[in-house]
Amino acid sequence: MKSTLPVCRTIKLETGEFMKSSIWNFWADKYDRLWVQKYSLRPTRNYILKALSEIKAIDNIKVLDLGCGPGQLINEMSKKFSNLEITGIDFSEKMLEVSKSKNPQARHIKLDADELYKLKDTFNVIICTHSLPYYKEPERVMKEICRLLKDDGRVFMGFASGDSFYDKFILSFVKLTTGPANYPSDKKFRKLVSSYFQVEKLNIIKEKSFMPRIAVYTLNKAVS
Ligand SMILES: C[S@@+](CC[C@H](N)C(=O)[O-])C[C@H]1O[C@@H](n2cnc3c(N)ncnc32)[C@H](O)[C@@H]1O
Repeated sequence: MKSTLPVCRTIKLETGEFMKSSIWNFWADKYDRLWVQKYSLRPTRNYILKALSEIKAIDNIKVLDLGCGPGQLINEMSKKFSNLEITGIDFSEKMLEVSKSKNPQARHIKLDADELYKLKDTFNVIICTHSLPYYKEPERVMKEICRLLKDDGRVFMGFASGDSFYDKFILSFVKLTTGPANYPSDKKFRKLVSSYFQVEKLNIIKEKSFMPRIAVYTLNKAVS
């Protein structure tokens, strides 16, 4: 039977950035229907929406959704809150196309997270869900997120956490559909952010016992 997945052999023939983003281009128009929506991606979005509603209301909250994918969260945030000015960033052209069609009111930028230094704005809230594991240089991304965040801003960073042997085992299968990924454990993540942020809160999402745990961290700027 012929598989519709981009097989590893094909991926190896491609190179560099194109190879990485092409996997996500492949998933863009199927993403809303993936089974992980139910137990992983949607619960993460629901948590972010709840966390946002607890942020002190100001007239215009500038939000960056880094690795926004097909823009489901942007869409739900826009419907729930009227005071957000949202920017979505992704390096996959197709993901951005889908997001733009759903969210014409949002600003979209095609950019690799490893090139955030090109961005000059600052944000009240930076969200990054299920995208960090795919960054080539996560430490550099953290440094840039810190620069882009206003002093009293918040970062919400969520990802499947390779914390236990079971999680790592399951996530090794997930990697077959996404390409190279590094799912940080709690210890590794805290070390990664320690120079820039303090961890204000950690929320664990585990809807089903067979799913790897999803960690969503609320970060604020470390006081130097
Ligand atoms: C698993 S999807 C998550 C999408 C969305 N944030 C969500 O929670 O459903 C990962 C997204 O990160 C994007 N991504 C991966 N590596 C990236 C990079 N280096 N720079 C920008 N976007 C990246 C992919 O294109 C994809 O849209």
